Amino acid sequence: MSTTATVLNVAEAAESRVSIRKYTDEPIPRELIEKVLDAARRAPSPWNIQPWRVWVVSNPELKLKLQEAAYGQPQVGAAASVLIVASDMTDALAKADDFIHPGMAAKKDDLVASIRANFEKMGEEASRQWGFAESNIFLGYLLLALEAYGIGSSPMLGFDPAKVRELLDLPEHVTFPAIVAIGFKAEEGFNQFRHPIDRFTTFLD
Ligand SMILES: Cc1cc2nc3c(=O)[nH]c(=O)nc-3n(C[C@H](O)[C@H](O)[C@H](O)COP(=O)(O)O)c2cc1C
Repeated sequence: MSTTATVLNVAEAAESRVSIRKYTDEPIPRELIEKVLDAARRAPSPWNIQPWRVWVVSNPELKLKLQEAAYGQPQVGAAASVLIVASDMTDALAKADDFIHPGMAAKKDDLVASIRANFEKMGEEASRQWGFAESNIFLGYLLLALEAYGIGSSPMLGFDPAKVRELLDLPEHVTFPAIVAIGFKAEEGFNQFRHPIDRFTTFLD
């Protein structure tokens, strides 16, 4: 796909996205990956904390090591790149200045202090879980954005997080909502099979 090809809207991308585990040999231009990340970074988070961090692994040797860490799942080795989607609350809170909206500048110091106090009270494990949950919103945006820009993707939780941390030299507190194999599609994947709306929704009029 060229970087000027049609971009799907959100509803179109949601309707057509399925996991793709076979890819062409074509690398994905960095410019296109940046377009995807530019859409995904718009995800909301409480207090605008944005705890997600991403590593884009295109290095062939590192990809093979990641495949081992993902219990040999073939789509990892086959992918043009693998996106490691992580959550790092320690980093997010250390740089709290960079998520406070400029419109709140007057109250910034107080806000940062109260947000940090909130997470201190919560404790490290709960705070880590909190960041993990919020980073999954980013993951959802990312999967839709990949589809919108014509990139096949396979999100995965089938991997050993300790090994991924070791490969990327990341500290223990970093968690991973998913690793995502990406590449231009060489298969159609399975048809979507999802609950109908009334299986998961109750309208209380
Ligand atoms: C967070 C997450 C983790 C997943 N982990 C794996 C995995 O390790 N290996 C795999 O083959 N598929 C994995 N899947 C794919 C799901 O099985 C798949 O999304 C689901 O069955 C729906 O199919 P579809 O994505 O093709 O529509 C994962 C999906 C998500 C969202």
